[in-house]
Amino acid sequence: MKKIRKAVFPVAGLGTRFLPATKASPKEMLPLVDKPMIQYVVEEAIASGIEEIILITGRGKNAIEDHFDNAIELEQLLKEKNKLEELKMIKDISDMCDFVYIRQKEPLGLGHAILRAKNAIGPEPFAVLLGDDIIYSDGVPALKQLITVYEETGSSVIAVEKIPRSKISSYGVVDTEWEKDDSCKIRGLVEKPAEDKAPSELAVIGRYILTPKIFELLENVERDKSGEIQLTAGLNELCALEDMYGCKFSGKRYDAGNKLGFLMATVEYGLRRKEFGDEFRNYIKALNL
Ligand code: G1P
Repeated sequence: MKKIRKAVFPVAGLGTRFLPATKASPKEMLPLVDKPMIQYVVEEAIASGIEEIILITGRGKNAIEDHFDNAIELEQLLKEKNKLEELKMIKDISDMCDFVYIRQKEPLGLGHAILRAKNAIGPEPFAVLLGDDIIYSDGVPALKQLITVYEETGSSVIAVEKIPRSKISSYGVVDTEWEKDDSCKIRGLVEKPAEDKAPSELAVIGRYILTPKIFELLENVERDKSGEIQLTAGLNELCALEDMYGCKFSGKRYDAGNKLGFLMATVEYGLRRKEFGDEFRNYIKALNL
C-alpha cells in the first residue's frame, strides 16, 4: 500500500466573511493567540507524517509563502539580540517540510482547486486539509486517525462529525451504508442539503484521504449552478466506484471560518496556554456580563 506523503491545502479563498481584516491579508494568516490559523493545520499534517505540502493559492496570498520561507533579516536581528528561542521558533517554521505553491487562477470551487494539484500529486493517494477547520487533539492528530483507517482499508477516507440538524445545511453530508461508533461506510454525499433533505446527521469536516482516481472524476464532473467544480460531486462519483469510509475522529473541531467559531477557538486556545491560561480563565470567570 502506498504511504500518504503529500497533502493539498486549498487556500485561494477570498475570506469575505472576515472583511475588513482580510482586505489586504489572507484569512489563513489570522492568528489564534499568536500563531496563524494555517500553521496549526500544517503542524497537524506534519505530525501525521506528511512530507510535502502543496498549497493552492491565489492573488493576495503572498504572506502565506513568506510565512513558511526563511526570514533572513529577522533571523539576523534575533541572532544579534541573542533572542535564541525566538530564532529557533522562526527557523523551525520554514524547516518543517517541503512547500509547493500552485496558483488557482480563477475561483471555480474546491474541486477545481484540488484539480490544480493533479501533476504535483501524481499516481498516489494523498490528503486534503481545509484551513477553516481547526482540530485540537491532545492525542493522535485528526489526519493521522484518517490515515490509520486508510492503512486498514486501502480506501478513501473522509472526516465526519455529528452535527445538529439545524446546522447541517452548512456542510457536505454523507449517506451511510453502515455506521459504527468511530466510523461509517459512505455510499453517497450531498453538498449543503436543506435540513429536511439531509441523508444523515454526519457532516463532512475538512480532512480527506483520497485516491488519485478523484482527479479524473473532477475533470469530468458536471459544474454546479454557479459554474463551480464541487469536490462533493467528485466524491459522490468516487464512492460509486470505490469503497469510501467516514472517520469519526476524536478531537475538538472549531469552525474558524466564521467569526463566532473563530472567537471560540481563540478563547479555548488561550485558556490552554501555560503562561497565562489560569489568569485568562480567572478574567473570563470574573466578567460580569
Ligand atoms: C466545504 C465542503 C463541505 C464541507 C466543509 C467542511 O464547504 O464543500 O462539503 O462540509 O468544507 O468545512 P465550505 O465550508 O468551504 O463552504
